[in-house]
Amino acid sequence: MQSRLGLGGDAAALESDVLLACALRITREELLIRPNSAAAPELCELFREFIARRCTGEPVAYILGVKEFYSLRFAVNRSVLIPRPETEFVVEHGLGFLRQRTAGHGPLNGGYLVLDVGTGSGAIVVSLACALRKESGEEGLSRGMFIGLDCSFAALKVAKSNALAHGLEDHISFAVSDVLSAVRVKPERHGAVLIVSNPPYISDSEELSFQISGFEPKCALRAGEKGLDVIERLIREAAPILRQKGPLGALVMEIGAGQDSDVRCIAQREELTTINYIQDLRGVKRVVEVGK
Ligand SMILES: C[S@@+](CC[C@H](N)C(=O)[O-])C[C@H]1O[C@@H](n2cnc3c(N)ncnc32)[C@H](O)[C@@H]1O
Repeated sequence: MQSRLGLGGDAAALESDVLLACALRITREELLIRPNSAAAPELCELFREFIARRCTGEPVAYILGVKEFYSLRFAVNRSVLIPRPETEFVVEHGLGFLRQRTAGHGPLNGGYLVLDVGTGSGAIVVSLACALRKESGEEGLSRGMFIGLDCSFAALKVAKSNALAHGLEDHISFAVSDVLSAVRVKPERHGAVLIVSNPPYISDSEELSFQISGFEPKCALRAGEKGLDVIERLIREAAPILRQKGPLGALVMEIGAGQDSDVRCIAQREELTTINYIQDLRGVKRVVEVGK
């Protein structure tokens, strides 16, 4: 595995441990405590199968069927992008927006609306709802309306299962939608509107490692010549909502490295501004807040 995938020795050893623990249906800690225990032949066979799959380049998360995001477990399969750590900035910033606008229930007579465009595994919307439930209880959660949208029906099946696994099936609804086209938002009905998204933003010409391009869904990654096709549509379709809501509306969206000035121009064209950029750990402007 180490030489086939070009992994360092430590990384390969860690991945083998994770796959072995999963095959044996024990935790990694149990594996470390009892390294020489005998295992049933069918479990050894399953482990060999996992290693063979990993050697083809298949990501560990797809082999295990789970990925941790925002300290929560999410089911994943090849219909959805594997949630990335940098997307946690979208959740954090979205939460900050909602906390500020819902403090003391001030202007929120009509509650708040959260739309997650390109929800994939549901990572963003489920994490937001879980965090809000933890902070403000069922009462705070039920003042919100949460909707996950995706053009992929297969992805929505995964997102629904994750909402159910986190006890949020009564709070989050899901719909097939090309960007925002399937929802009719009446901004005046909601106290605040937060649109969150990690849209596909990779340009058609950018090279990707086989571990990504060979396994993750193309529609979750690529977005035209400059990688801006979905971003541009999202800003255009969100604009009427954001212009009407003023400071009570925001689009918090992940973007690709170097796309910030294009995003600013698109927002300006729609009479919106880029209020804030959040840099990732490498100093890249990774998340943008667009509003009036
Ligand atoms: C980068 S993935 C993000 C998935 C998830 N939100 C996350 O952060 O892990 C982008 C998602 O957008 C969806 N998507 C792509 N084009 C879309 C469109 N035109 N309308 C709605 N969803 C779209 C893809 O199916 C994919 O699930």
